[in-house]
Amino acid sequence: MVSTLGVAVVGFGWMGRVHTQAYQRIPHHFPQLSVRPELVAVAEEVPGRAEEAAAQFGFASTTRDWREVARDPRVQAVSITAPNFLHREIGVAMAEAGKHIWIEKPVGLTAEDARAVADAVAAAGVQSTVGFNYRNAPAVAYASELIASGELGTITHVRVRLFSDYAAHPDGALTWRYERARGGGGVLGDLASHGVDLARFLLGDIASLAADTAVFIPERARPTGATAGHTLATGGELGPVENEDYVSCLLRFASGARGVLEASRVSVGEQNNYGFEVHGTKGAVFWDYRRMGELGVSRGTSYQDQPVSTVYVGPGHGEYGAFQPGSANAMGYDDLKVIEARNFLRSIAEGTSYGATLEDAVHSATALDAMSRSAEQGTWVSLG
Ligand SMILES: NC(=O)c1ccc[n+]([C@@H]2O[C@H](COP(=O)([O-])OP(=O)(O)OC[C@H]3O[C@@H](n4cnc5c(N)ncnc54)[C@H](O)[C@@H]3O)[C@@H](O)[C@H]2O)c1
Repeated sequence: MVSTLGVAVVGFGWMGRVHTQAYQRIPHHFPQLSVRPELVAVAEEVPGRAEEAAAQFGFASTTRDWREVARDPRVQAVSITAPNFLHREIGVAMAEAGKHIWIEKPVGLTAEDARAVADAVAAAGVQSTVGFNYRNAPAVAYASELIASGELGTITHVRVRLFSDYAAHPDGALTWRYERARGGGGVLGDLASHGVDLARFLLGDIASLAADTAVFIPERARPTGATAGHTLATGGELGPVENEDYVSCLLRFASGARGVLEASRVSVGEQNNYGFEVHGTKGAVFWDYRRMGELGVSRGTSYQDQPVSTVYVGPGHGEYGAFQPGSANAMGYDDLKVIEARNFLRSIAEGTSYGATLEDAVHSATALDAMSRSAEQGTWVSLG
C-alpha cells in the first residue's frame, strides 16, 4: 500500500528547485516505493520566491519563516536547501520537531555543526540523507563494486579532481559563498566536500592528510539585490573574499592507500570537470562526471600495457534501470537527485539508511576542517 508523506523545502534557490523536481519525479522512476511525497510547504526568505515556487510546483502553502515548517504537523520530511550557515540551526530544529531531513552538503560551516545535526537526528530517531549526489551515479556505483570485488587488486592510490569556473569571473557577486560566517569554507565545503565523500565511498576512511589552499580572487563586488546561484554583480561596493578558491591535498587512507584531491572554483576553461582515477595492483577505473554514463575500466592479468575499455553503464549498474532500458542513454545531474530522493524516502519507509547520511557528512566535514588546519599549520593532520 502506498502512503503519502508530507514534505517541505526550506530555501528555494538552485537546490530547492532540484529537490522539488526530484520529489515530483519519484512516482515516474520509483513507482514501487511505498511512500509518495506530497509538496506541503515551501519556506523562502526572498519576498515572492516561495509563492512563485508554489505556483510552479504546487506546494500547498508558503512562508518566509522556516520555523512555521518545523511547527507544521502536515510536514513529515524536510529538504534543507538554504545556505550553509543555516544548516545547523534548521537541521537541529527540524530533527527535534520529529521531521526526517534531506540536507545539502556540506552540512553547516564546520565539523562541529555537522556533528550537532547528526546528534539531533540520532536523538530524534529520524532518517537523514545528505546531498552527496555524485556517489549516486551508476558508473560510480559500478566502480565501487569493482573495487569491492577485488578485481582491481589491492587499491594503491586515487586522484580526485573537482575543477570549476563558477567563481572564475572577477564580477562574480560576493554572495554568502565567499563569507566565512555564512559559507564557512570556500571550495572546501562547496566542491572538496563532494571529493572527500567520493574518496571515502570508493576507498574507505581517510586516516590523515596534508593540504595547501589559496585565494586567487581576493575581492568581489557585493550584490545589490537578491541572489541565487552564481550571480554576477558590477558596481557594488567591493568586499573581501574570506575563504579559499583552491585546495590541493594529499590523503592517506586507513587501508594504506594514498590519494590526491584537488579542487578549484576559479579555473577558467573548466566546467564541472569532476572525476577520479582509482588504481589497484591489477587494474584501474576512470570516471569523468561530464561523461557520467561511461566508466573507463582496465582489468585483467597483464599489468603492463593492459588495455582500458569504456563501459557504457546500463540497467545492471546502480539505479540506471529506473531511468533508461538500455546502456548508453545519457543520464543527467537532476537524475542523481531523483536517486537521492529515492534513498531518502526509502530510508523513511523502511526505517533504515540508504545512501549518504549525516554520519558521512560528519566524516567529510572533519576532513575539510583538517585540510584548513593543515594548510594553516603546514603539517600533516590526523583524522583519528
Ligand atoms: N549537492 C550539490 O551538488 C549542490 C550544488 C549546489 C549547492 N549545494 C548546496 O545547497 C545549498 C544551497 O545552495 P544553492 O546553490 O541552492 O544556493 P542558492 O543561493 O541558489 O539558494 C539558497 C536559497 O536559500 C534562501 N534562503 C536564505 N536564507 C533563508 C532563510 N532564512 N529561510 C529560507 N530561505 C532562505 C535564499 O534566498 C535562496 O533562495 C548549499 O548548502 C550548497 O552547499 C549542493
